[in-house]
Amino acid sequence: MRSLISIVTLMFAFGFTSLVSAADPIIIKFSHVVAPNTPKGKAAEKFKQLVEERTSGNVKVEIYPNSQLYKDREEMEALQIGAVQMLAPSLSKFGPIGAREFEVFDLPYIFPNKETLYRVMDGEIGKSLMGKLDSKGIVGLSFWDNGFKQMSANRPLRNVEDFKGLKMRIQSSKVLDAEMKALGANPQVMAFSEVYTALQQGVVDGTENPNSNFYTQKMNEVQKHLTISDHGYLGYAVIVNKKFWDGLPGDTRKIVAQAMKDATEYEREIAKQENEEALTKVRAAGTTEVYVLPFKDRVIWQKALLPVHREFESVIGKDTIQAIYAIAAQVEKEKAGKK
Ligand code: LMR
Repeated sequence: MRSLISIVTLMFAFGFTSLVSAADPIIIKFSHVVAPNTPKGKAAEKFKQLVEERTSGNVKVEIYPNSQLYKDREEMEALQIGAVQMLAPSLSKFGPIGAREFEVFDLPYIFPNKETLYRVMDGEIGKSLMGKLDSKGIVGLSFWDNGFKQMSANRPLRNVEDFKGLKMRIQSSKVLDAEMKALGANPQVMAFSEVYTALQQGVVDGTENPNSNFYTQKMNEVQKHLTISDHGYLGYAVIVNKKFWDGLPGDTRKIVAQAMKDATEYEREIAKQENEEALTKVRAAGTTEVYVLPFKDRVIWQKALLPVHREFESVIGKDTIQAIYAIAAQVEKEKAGKK
């Protein structure tokens, strides 16, 4: 009997328990702040489906949308301590963890089109940005897309002067803070989950969003005017806890990485369409007047916002900003050549 007890004791001491738990699936908790029926929400579902199929259920992805688990700031902390394994925060939310360079994506009107944007994300600039996360215990897996942002408020926003004195909700980005100030507005940082109520109660007067976020958060119920200005961009970095990622068995990590690649392709395909459909729904709801900023006025907005690029050269890097201008010019040239 004594020997049986010591065998059992030995089995536990030398990893019998880990043999038992090896049969348990690996869980990836994926937390995000938007609705499931958005480009990010749908791509998270796609990723889950691909991972679970391809690992025959050995890896399970649990998705927590709509800030169900954590709000903006909290989710970053949760990832770093390993309370969740995966997030896809907006590129405007990396400043508080000491990666302000990501705010390059917030520079107003810096991306004239999606081709330029993708070349930046998928090229050297994107790679170097993701590399900055390593020291923070984070691995950057992929860039996901949402779309260009539009301005909303309860008064028409047609001229730069219309922003004067408006309290505008922004994400936690210094560039966005400068953007709103350049327009004469008062920026207020606020978690995404609080925006609807803040607009409803008049805590803030307006905000900026891609149409998919505007519609799926029902902001059209509490904003009378929407200006299609495409003045800025909103996209995501899909990130994982480094310790978790490095600890995955090599073959599993490979499958998960490929699933992320495929989900990214899907995400980018649907982003444009989701935003177009959302705008159609906003129009159909009839609660918000939609104004498309004419080109001649867009040029005036651009002029008012351009100083923000210069203001942030020292934070983001003058070289990076210049490199994006060069990529934009190259894309333009290629387009002209095709005509
Ligand atoms: C916001 O806070 O406005 C966005 O970052 C939300 C999101 O994740 O799209």
